[in-house]
Amino acid sequence: VTAEKGGYDSFMLKEIHEQPQAVRETMGARIDQEHKRVILPELKMSNADLAKYDRIYIVACGTSMHAGLVGKDVIEKWTRVPVEVAVASEFRYRDPIYTDNTLMIVISQSGETADTLAALREAKKSNVTVLAITNVVGSSVAREADEVLFTWAGPEVAVASTKAYTSQVVALYLFALYLAQVKGTLAAAEVAEVVDHLQDIPAKIASLLEDAEQVRRFAESTKGVNSLFFIGRSLDYAVSLEGSLKLKEISYIHSEAYPAGELKHGTLALIEDNVPVVALATQPDIYEKMVSNIVEVKARGARVLGFAIEGDTDLAKSVDEVIYLPSTLPMLTPILTVIPLQLLSYFASVARGLDVDKPRNLAKSVTVE
Ligand code: AGP
Repeated sequence: VTAEKGGYDSFMLKEIHEQPQAVRETMGARIDQEHKRVILPELKMSNADLAKYDRIYIVACGTSMHAGLVGKDVIEKWTRVPVEVAVASEFRYRDPIYTDNTLMIVISQSGETADTLAALREAKKSNVTVLAITNVVGSSVAREADEVLFTWAGPEVAVASTKAYTSQVVALYLFALYLAQVKGTLAAAEVAEVVDHLQDIPAKIASLLEDAEQVRRFAESTKGVNSLFFIGRSLDYAVSLEGSLKLKEISYIHSEAYPAGELKHGTLALIEDNVPVVALATQPDIYEKMVSNIVEVKARGARVLGFAIEGDTDLAKSVDEVIYLPSTLPMLTPILTVIPLQLLSYFASVARGLDVDKPRNLAKSVTVE
């Protein structure tokens, strides 16, 4: 078993460390190096068919749904197509508004999640085209969808999803860029700039993995803690949700992710002396507002671990300590921000002596409703 874990003490840690490779493989041949653009040869539909979509539903569960939230912001920003993200167990019982120009994207690591599969089947009954992003060739989702983009993360064994998430986010970046090329909503030079930055992502993930000491210390300090908050705005909020889910799942610490601007509408009442708050402040557009929100929790006694982009000299003045992330385009930052968050949940679980790979009450693949 140790051999299967590649020398790591758990599958989760092994899979966390496989992320540079998983991300690289998922980009793989989908980047045209010469022209710095995206090619998706696996798509069967024509560019003309793809260009007609003016509305997208992204449907998934858990971590895959969280990848979808990043995908929403990116697709909307680069293509101006409105995207709605829905939890599959809710979506399948809704009466969704489909038009001839609606595309559905389902995301599932396993390709066997019952609710996601049911949502896919419902959409197909209504003649909606379904594009799947999945990690398992031959899975039900891969077989039944009209179009498939595989993530090439390799088998994911740990219940807590890590490399599948980062690979899904990469697949969504590639799809969003491709759609922008087809619709002409980004200039060739803009696409090339994103492509350049995307190709630097694996090395940046690797550097975050090498430098885990600070996050390990913070995780250990949460040993006696009952509750922890993740806050962020815009894309940082999407990543907060993933950080919070991961922590709950394997450390059993209660945690909540909150859009920071919403705190004062209720949740701020829970902040008191020494409550740990992980505050993500990586998005330049909303940075000043985010810092004000951090000051609000700090003033109520919170112990704040901030996340900032390297070169940021301000955040340190408002928080207890800062984790610095390598600089990239703001839209690509989520894929880096999530790495220390995964490590935080991993180290918190280890510090409590829990079984990292097999958390209580949970299954790797939820094949029943
Ligand atoms: C993530 O850590 C979870 N264990 C869980 O939320 C998972 O992402 C969800 O069950 C969806 O699985 P799928 O991607 O295989 O459909």
